Amino acid sequence: MKILFATSECSPYAKVGGLGDVIPPLAAALKKMGHDVRIVLPKYGSINYVSRCEVVEGPMIINMGYGTEFAQLLRTKHRNIPVYFIEFDRYFARHGIYGEFGHGYHDNWERFAFFCRAVLDMGPFLNWAPDIIHTNDWPTGIIPALLSLHTKPNILNDTKSIFTIHNMAHHGYASQDLLRFTGLYDHYWHPFAMEACGAINVMKGALQFANKITTVSKTYAEEIKTAEYGHGLDNVLKYRAKDLVGICNGVDTDVWNPAIDKFLPENFSAQSIGGKKTCKQHLQRELGLSNDSNIPIFGVVSRFFHQKGLDILCNILPDVLRNMNVQFSVLGSGDQHLEWKFQDIMSRFGGQVSVRIGFDEQLSHLIEAGSDFFVMPSRYEPCGLNQMYSMIYGSLPIVHATGGLIDTVDNYDELTGTGTGFIFNDLTDSALYNTIGWACATYYDRPGDFEKLRQSAMKKDFSWAKSAKEYEKIYLATMGKS
Ligand code: ADP
Ligand code: GLC
Repeated sequence: MKILFATSECSPYAKVGGLGDVIPPLAAALKKMGHDVRIVLPKYGSINYVSRCEVVEGPMIINMGYGTEFAQLLRTKHRNIPVYFIEFDRYFARHGIYGEFGHGYHDNWERFAFFCRAVLDMGPFLNWAPDIIHTNDWPTGIIPALLSLHTKPNILNDTKSIFTIHNMAHHGYASQDLLRFTGLYDHYWHPFAMEACGAINVMKGALQFANKITTVSKTYAEEIKTAEYGHGLDNVLKYRAKDLVGICNGVDTDVWNPAIDKFLPENFSAQSIGGKKTCKQHLQRELGLSNDSNIPIFGVVSRFFHQKGLDILCNILPDVLRNMNVQFSVLGSGDQHLEWKFQDIMSRFGGQVSVRIGFDEQLSHLIEAGSDFFVMPSRYEPCGLNQMYSMIYGSLPIVHATGGLIDTVDNYDELTGTGTGFIFNDLTDSALYNTIGWACATYYDRPGDFEKLRQSAMKKDFSWAKSAKEYEKIYLATMGKS
């Protein structure tokens, strides 16, 4: 099959969260299965790989609803997969991907609508017709509707669309102008198409027009059909239920693998765990935590957003630090109020907690490697990658029972000594406090169990091959070949 991934993030070029981590290994796994896989994303100002790109000759004509625009198509290869960048400075020559300084760009719907239209016009320009355009979250959510037009490029007549929900919370709102901007007809302004509450809801449009819908874990696929998790689109999902499938993300073991990780001062594995101690010492030194390898370190690496439930952690952290002999290393950024709260706690508990505000790829690897536990109290979590990274780095996850966290972590059973982490059901201050206490007691009082859990966690198989097979099945079904 010819498969084109249309995405707003793709590591190492552009990454804000998990979406960037997911695209390259999934594409690589599909390529390994023999498919012709390509990736396309905008050429953001922050992407400085241009020197290694070749320019595809001739400007590419983009047929917007209001007339034509000209963009440059750049091409490179990542893991032997062609990666295309759409260069159009008016929208993309900026430092951020979605925004800067905590604020989204005011013209985001225009930027990504333009990108979607450009993805369609790429087929004729390259004389390459994908069988499947695999779209991801609202930034590429107009593509399924554009593919439903009979004015689309002829070469795409048989092309089908898949829409993957990585996060139901972000819908992408636009005014009615989006229709004329992209060349969609006025009748798309309808509650059964893209209109919702007097605006265009791009996610809703994608859910209506995509041939198949996937999301990134089995549990989340069920959750989003309920009012609690559906963000107002649960009815659309119930309506499309037979076309909705949950496929769990995997781990990119070329990048997230403690045995070969180039960001670590010493590598390690389940069979040879010695290097983890060095990573812990390094982490303590680098973050100014007191240098004692017997104290358990709890790590956090996260976007600071409501979704991640870190406000609950802030509520209880002072008590945890007062009552338990533990250390915390926190890395993240986002909600300024949360940033201040964490920094305030650090100023009161110096040596016991370190808070780094910002995005730091290297430190994120070191925290996974140097910690003993990893905390994810997410309110909802479509899949979550960090709990999987932490397991294979031997740092036991402490997670709220939701979405992909349930699907990937096995709760500790004290009777049998089995499990790979600690799960709590209610997202309350006391439940999180008690679960951190449970983890801490396991570390100090049942070291045999702790080591057993760590071994089981590190040996979990999160490779992409299995999930890629499930995607292949969906693609074939979409093309009527199952
Ligand atoms: P989400 O996509 O909702 O943010 P995931 O767990 O799927 O959550 O993926 C988050 C990814 O982003 C992980 O690779 C994580 O290490 C990375 N990440 C998040 N915040 C930071 C940060 N401040 N610095 C470095 N990496 C980060
Ligand atoms: C989203 C979700 C996260 C998921 C990631 C990749 O950002 O919040 O749970 O792991 O996408 O699919």
